[in-house]
Amino acid sequence: LSSLFVKIVEVGPRDGLQNEKSVIPTETKIEFINRLSETGLSVVEATSFVSPKWVPQMGDAKKVITSIKKKDSVSYPCLTPNLKGLEAAIESGVKEVAVFLAASESFSKKNVNCTIEESFERTLPLISKAKEHGILVRGYVSCVVGCPYEGPIQAAKVAEVSQRLYDMGCYEISLGDTIGVGTPGSFQELLWSVSNVVPVRALAVHCHDTYGQALANIHCALEMGVRVVDSSMSGLGGCPYAPGASGNVATEDVVYMLQGMKYETGVNLQKAIETGNWISERLNRANGSKAAKALTLK
Ligand code: HMG
Ligand code: MG
Repeated sequence: LSSLFVKIVEVGPRDGLQNEKSVIPTETKIEFINRLSETGLSVVEATSFVSPKWVPQMGDAKKVITSIKKKDSVSYPCLTPNLKGLEAAIESGVKEVAVFLAASESFSKKNVNCTIEESFERTLPLISKAKEHGILVRGYVSCVVGCPYEGPIQAAKVAEVSQRLYDMGCYEISLGDTIGVGTPGSFQELLWSVSNVVPVRALAVHCHDTYGQALANIHCALEMGVRVVDSSMSGLGGCPYAPGASGNVATEDVVYMLQGMKYETGVNLQKAIETGNWISERLNRANGSKAAKALTLK
């Protein structure tokens, strides 16, 4: 792939929907993923094999992942917090999973009910078992700039967690600004620190847009060599354990910006907008993408 290719990791069906209060019909999730598969995206994060007591919205993970129309050109990773989740994912034929750790102790406790160290202890056997089954593992690090419970997080701590995850066998490390507090200033410091210990081509940025800084932070990451960007259609999203955090940066806005910068993404903007409008209507909410709004009015 050329250095002008940017891989977009669509997290709408997972990050986008996990925090919705009303029960979303499984059929709607399946159709959403099927529509996303037709937009040219190469990665659509589909669901989470987490505890349904913790995140009820993802309780239909198995039904969703086994019912979608899978395209060969698209990868459909699923979140797995522990071996139980991985085993369920294996039974469902999943080819890629994502583990999620945090750079903040308090967030780790709230999100996965254990310390960062215990999270690594859970993750090590998970990665070995995934590898035995030929399953790729992506690694998330949450709270890379700030934590909803602890405040600012040191870039050095993020670098340490990222390096350990990478060394354990995650092929890609996604840096999650869970509460969207980062700015190009803090992102530059963050990426400087992390790219010292993990190759920049193995890094992704995962920006929630709470403070309206996501596109600026993504631009900063691109300038520093990052070529993988997480986003969610129409800006859906949020984490149930990060109060006040808003959705992810909208995929339509990211595609619009990347096109303007002459990056290739493979994503058809018009089809993305149609899909974002479709899911927004289903959820009975306004489309959170500015580009989608502007181009739909035309
Ligand atoms: P726990 O309560 O400590 O776990 O939760 P446990 O091992 O004691 O098990 C408790 C019960 O859950 C048991 O059931 C287990 O069987 C069941 P019971 O015996 O009581 O009937 N259980 C499971 N069921 C289904 N699938 C599983 C599973 N594991 C246990 N995998 C646990 C620990 C990690 C399970 C829990 O805290 C959890 O599921 N957390 C997930 C939280 C979550 O999904 N957060 C959102 C995703 S992360 C995110 O959004 C951030 C990200 O977008 C990046 C960013 O923005 O920063 C990725
Ligand atoms: Mg997130």
